[in-house]
Amino acid sequence: MNEKKTDDFHFRHPTIADGAAIWQLVIDAGTLDQNSSYLYLLLCRNFANSCAVAERDGKLVGFVTGLRSTERPDVWFLWQIGVAPSARGQGLAGRLAHFVLDALMPQGVRFLETTVTASNEASRALFAGIARRLNTELHESELFTTELFPGTDHEAEPLLRIGPFDTASVSE
Ligand SMILES: CC(C)(COP(=O)(O)OP(=O)(O)OC[C@H]1O[C@@H](n2cnc3c(N)ncnc32)[C@H](O)[C@@H]1OP(=O)(O)O)[C@@H](O)C(=O)NCCC(=O)NCCS
Repeated sequence: MNEKKTDDFHFRHPTIADGAAIWQLVIDAGTLDQNSSYLYLLLCRNFANSCAVAERDGKLVGFVTGLRSTERPDVWFLWQIGVAPSARGQGLAGRLAHFVLDALMPQGVRFLETTVTASNEASRALFAGIARRLNTELHESELFTTELFPGTDHEAEPLLRIGPFDTASVSE
């Protein structure tokens, strides 16, 4: 399994033993949709290569979850990314995303897709930075509009599509 240690952070792909801590980080993040703990176990078991966690002093302080579908194997769909408040503003989210991209690009991933609400400035800055480091385009389009969600209080989730990129296009 790929592992990487930078500064005091340790990056690796998750195992099912991480599912509960990822679920707790989602709750602590405050702005992320909360899902069942089962779902995180499933992601850790079946999509570990498309997910990553960051540890500091043996404690999980950041995660990214995502998946690749068999219909669109050149796309990494990044589903949720979160960093504990105590570890924010140190480039951790960007490094988590690049850790997964480093694993997936050699397998033919050429695009990153995600959805981000209009109000999530930190997240938008994060994806703009990723596109910049990959020397590629970021394109936004309508995807999950408000009326598709049950109830009335879910913001629209437009699609951000970053790419194309490959290992040669990455800048440090
Ligand atoms: C979004 C989030 C993951 C960013 O984590 P982070 O480790 O602090 O982000 P980074 O340090 O890698 O910063 C990434 C970029 O965002 C910018 N940024 C970080 N926090 C910001 C904020 N509050 N407002 C505006 N920009 C911000 C950074 O300056 C950086 O930009 P740069 O690449 O141009 O330098 C974190 O704020 C978080 O967990 N938020 C709650 C969960 C969430 O909203 N997740 C995203 C939706 S899936």
